[in-house]
Amino acid sequence: MILITGATGNVGRHLVTALLDAGEKVRALTRDPATASLPEGAEVARTDEMPMDDVEAVFFNPAASWNGPGELLEKAAAHGVRRVVMLSSLACTYEEGPANPIGTHHLKMEREVEASGLEWTFLRPGLFATNSLVWADQIRNGGAVQGAYAEAQFSPTHERDIADAAAQAFLTDDHVGAKPLLTGPESLTHAEMVATVGEAIGRPARFEEIAPEVARERMVGGHMTPQIADSILRMQAAAVGVPALIAPDVERVIGHPARTFAQWAADHAADFS
Ligand SMILES: NC(=O)c1ccc[n+]([C@@H]2O[C@H](COP(=O)([O-])OP(=O)(O)OC[C@H]3O[C@@H](n4cnc5c(N)ncnc54)[C@H](OP(=O)(O)O)[C@@H]3O)[C@@H](O)[C@H]2O)c1
Repeated sequence: MILITGATGNVGRHLVTALLDAGEKVRALTRDPATASLPEGAEVARTDEMPMDDVEAVFFNPAASWNGPGELLEKAAAHGVRRVVMLSSLACTYEEGPANPIGTHHLKMEREVEASGLEWTFLRPGLFATNSLVWADQIRNGGAVQGAYAEAQFSPTHERDIADAAAQAFLTDDHVGAKPLLTGPESLTHAEMVATVGEAIGRPARFEEIAPEVARERMVGGHMTPQIADSILRMQAAAVGVPALIAPDVERVIGHPARTFAQWAADHAADFS
């Protein structure tokens, strides 16, 4: 049995399907089983109950436990769980310190997992392509997408590539102790990404650059603290005119080239229409 935290999320939902398709038994955690509409075949349980009976391996998604994996690891160790696959972040590879709160936080969680003595794999994706869904209202309403740094470059990662890589980390022993960097296959500017969404929906869409201070005001709120907003804006500023990292790890782990942003936009056209 593989236990998936954050099972209704961008990555979790595809991972549940991939593992079921591979013939694995899956327990999918959600705060609200009644509305989760997880695939038939998955056993659904509540996040706060986290039942560990029969579990051999767990997927740790920080989105479902931002305070870290402490409780999960404690329960896992007590039930003889063998392996943890963690959804970490490429930001772990950037300079550590107050200027990089996202990387620092994920590194701290990785260290907790390492210290548990369980087998581990740390998936380190870069920018999720799904972050672009925040543009949906502006694109749907026919307006330009406003944001900072039109020429900042990224290699957005399709959530299905992350889920497929996670599945491989459970289905084989090849990725124990590995920290694959999961990026998309091409470096694109913000402006090119918005134009790509426009092509997918058959309606032109464009990016309109606004001042970073204005973008910051709009970003802050909820989980987006001023510190995280500042660090994202710093990353974007540093990415202007600089081709994004394109790592070979997705293809190496999942056995086919990483999905393009055009593929992602086509898969999500309905979200923007
Ligand atoms: N976005 C990026 O660019 C990026 C880049 C690198 C790494 N990451 C990592 O990926 C994670 C996001 O993964 P994702 O997109 O798959 O997650 P997600 O879709 O944002 O969320 C996963 C699930 O977590 C549950 N959840 C949300 N808030 C919760 C809370 N306060 N308490 C308990 N459960 C909660 C929700 O499930 P229920 O509502 O069903 O409970 C949600 O469906 C980030 O946290 C980060 O660690 C993200």
